[in-house]
Amino acid sequence: MAPLCLSESIEKPVHWEMPGQSRQVYFFDELVSTMDTALDLARNDCKSGTVVVAGRQTKGRGRMTRVWHSKEGGLYFTVVLKPDLPLVKAPLVCFAASFAMAQTLNQCFGVDARVKWPNDLLVESSKISGMLSQIEIQADRILFLNIGIGLNVNNMPAELLPESTSLRAILNRRLSRKEILFDFLNRLDTRLSSHDAVDAIIADWKTLTVTIGRTVKIITSRGVYQGIARDVDSSGALILEQEDGKIQTVLYGDCFHQ
Ligand code: BTN
Repeated sequence: MAPLCLSESIEKPVHWEMPGQSRQVYFFDELVSTMDTALDLARNDCKSGTVVVAGRQTKGRGRMTRVWHSKEGGLYFTVVLKPDLPLVKAPLVCFAASFAMAQTLNQCFGVDARVKWPNDLLVESSKISGMLSQIEIQADRILFLNIGIGLNVNNMPAELLPESTSLRAILNRRLSRKEILFDFLNRLDTRLSSHDAVDAIIADWKTLTVTIGRTVKIITSRGVYQGIARDVDSSGALILEQEDGKIQTVLYGDCFHQ
């Protein structure tokens, strides 16, 4: 097993035992970011499926250099995956994770969570979950793909961010973050269990998306694109019809529904 050389963490983690699995799930009361701790573990040969959870984060990271507010009550975790997949299929793992989390919310709690391209979860247009990924490769091989998810569970994020919501705000009760995480991990395992399962991800993800058909603005590191989101292709790229009628394929970016 990988040594737990966690430079930033003073406290020892608690092990969350997942029924029927030997998977390592490390829970810390507080971390700077689960992404940093998971990166340490991934680089030190931890097993695929290892999870780092924090009760709160002091510098939670969002996409595009944003901050992810990580007060007590939310579920903040990063799962280290070492999938035996060609590099081009790495984005599908992220789509599998957002779909799996939407299913957890919908099937366990009767919530109507939808996916916004690429990997946000919305409930009635308020954001309930976001995802950040980090990959290391060697040639065309994935060494690891870390997926970090923030899910608003018992916290009330709308106090800070009016366009966000949480399970507690929707259901008016507190929930077990551990049970949510375990349900999600089981669903993610199923989604990644075979090459056929991975290839089916985009079709399933599309059944829950609220992005296709919408007018959107996409901010990428290469520029800003606007138009109507027409489709998501088999690699997970967004097919955008721009105002001049030109079709633009966008691989990754921050999407704003207009
Ligand atoms: C986004 O929507 O901007 C992505 C948010 C990702 C937040 C999660 S919380 C767990 C993990 N650790 C982090 O610092 N960020 C991700």
